[in-house]
Amino acid sequence: MDPEKIVAWVIIMLNISNVEVKYSNIILVLKGVFLEVADEAVVCLLGANGAGKTTLIRAVSGMLKTQLGKVTEGAIEIDGQRIENKSPEYIAALQVAQVMEGRRVLEHLTVEENLKLGGYTGPGGGRLKAHLDVVYSYFPRLKELKTRTSGYISGGEQQMVVIGRALMATPKLMLLDEPSLGLAPLMIKSIYEVLRRINKEEKTSMLVVEQNAKIALSIASYGYVMESGRIVLDGPAETLKDNEDVKEFYLGLSAVGEKKSYKDIKHYKRRKRWLS
Ligand SMILES: Nc1ncnc2c1ncn2[C@@H]1O[C@H](COP(=O)(O)OP(=O)(O)OP(=O)(O)O)[C@@H](O)[C@H]1O
Ligand SMILES: [Mg+2]
Repeated sequence: MDPEKIVAWVIIMLNISNVEVKYSNIILVLKGVFLEVADEAVVCLLGANGAGKTTLIRAVSGMLKTQLGKVTEGAIEIDGQRIENKSPEYIAALQVAQVMEGRRVLEHLTVEENLKLGGYTGPGGGRLKAHLDVVYSYFPRLKELKTRTSGYISGGEQQMVVIGRALMATPKLMLLDEPSLGLAPLMIKSIYEVLRRINKEEKTSMLVVEQNAKIALSIASYGYVMESGRIVLDGPAETLKDNEDVKEFYLGLSAVGEKKSYKDIKHYKRRKRWLS
């Protein structure tokens, strides 16, 4: 066959097209968002506070409803199936797992009880033990802690529990909302290393929301930048790393490479209008 005629066929795991979201029928937060995650890819979504990143994750996981939010325009497809405004249970049954902002462990339950809760939503509900072994292979620390009460382990260990719980559902697509938030640099590195392994070994597609652009761009192949409910920039991670705006606003580097203080960057972020 003529090699010129071979066309690469990329399967799109998540396809978000012109999505508009309103809270309480009036507060317009997402204003026509387009975003794609190819099968087995890691894609990151960057953006300042209040840009609408969590809202987009909720729109995909079905959790918008719990916040009186609704997709009022556009389409969301998971592996070719339309899912906008479907229930969280419906979407979980499509093997989509969400790691919510703020490390939501059930504090009174043990580590292993928390993990088991993640297993009931997936198709392999009867294979809990095998799934637990997979989680413990990625996070050996959780095996050591399995009988401990989750409220009394460290923040980093709680984040492992939450990621492990998502993994219990053998997800095709993982949605991660700021997994690095509030963690020490070494813990962030080790958690991202595990995410990279999960992506490679389990072939799990991932959409990772982060304010920590450096770490997110280090595992993602493609990235998007959101501002005020719109995607204002997207491209391969390698290209975004070199983009002057990304460097300045998300990596904290000025054009001459000097490190800016976080306060300066916050200030710039507020003034900067990507779309003006
Ligand atoms: N339940 C809600 N009802 C009304 N408005 C909301 C609700 N949740 C979020 N918003 C508003 O929607 C906008 C986007 O919020 P969202 O949490 O999606 O942003 P974000 O990019 O995740 O921010 P952060 O980086 O701070 O987590 C904000 O203006 C926020 O006040
Ligand atoms: Mg958020």
